Amino acid sequence: MGIERTLIICKSVHHQNTAKVAQAIADVLHAEICAPEDVPYAGLDEYDLIGLGSGIYFGRFHSALRHWVCEMPIVPSQGRRAFLFSTSGLPLFWRIWHSPLKSWLQRKGWDVIAEFHCRGFDTVGPLWLMGGINRHHPNDRDLEHAASFARDMLLRSHPC
Ligand SMILES: Cc1cc2nc3c(=O)[nH]c(=O)nc-3n(C[C@H](O)[C@H](O)[C@H](O)COP(=O)(O)O)c2cc1C
Repeated sequence: MGIERTLIICKSVHHQNTAKVAQAIADVLHAEICAPEDVPYAGLDEYDLIGLGSGIYFGRFHSALRHWVCEMPIVPSQGRRAFLFSTSGLPLFWRIWHSPLKSWLQRKGWDVIAEFHCRGFDTVGPLWLMGGINRHHPNDRDLEHAASFARDMLLRSHPC
């Protein structure tokens, strides 16, 4: 099953780090990017694939994204595809941080086909005093990884 139309639902509030990743993925998939509050559930049928991403704030995706998924009705048809992406200051635990939203999506009937994460510039709390960490991230290399993550989803959905 190919990917014709993709919607990326993104919340990026700290330094627009995740917005840059969303754009790199969207450029490959020719996807629209919207904030969760602007996406009505009724319109989701138009898309073959949805991507959900945000920065990580206190170990979780942005609350607007979490609420959007929690409030979403269960999809009646099987095999609706989604992917997750995020940026954070400390990348070590990203799979753990993705896990609750991934489970929620699966419970709502979505097949989570891929996940992406990279570092993002972080000046939260005392980090601000020392100029932050991950300055310049996501950098060109991170964004190229994001683009190749998107190309990989396309390739896997169009088996030769
Ligand atoms: C309020 C707040 C809480 C954060 N909590 C975490 C955290 O728990 N773990 C982490 O690695 N980074 C944390 N960060 C850093 C962000 O995840 C990181 O800067 C991310 O790239 C921000 O993405 P954005 O610019 O798209 O909002 C936090 C940042 C903010 C502002």
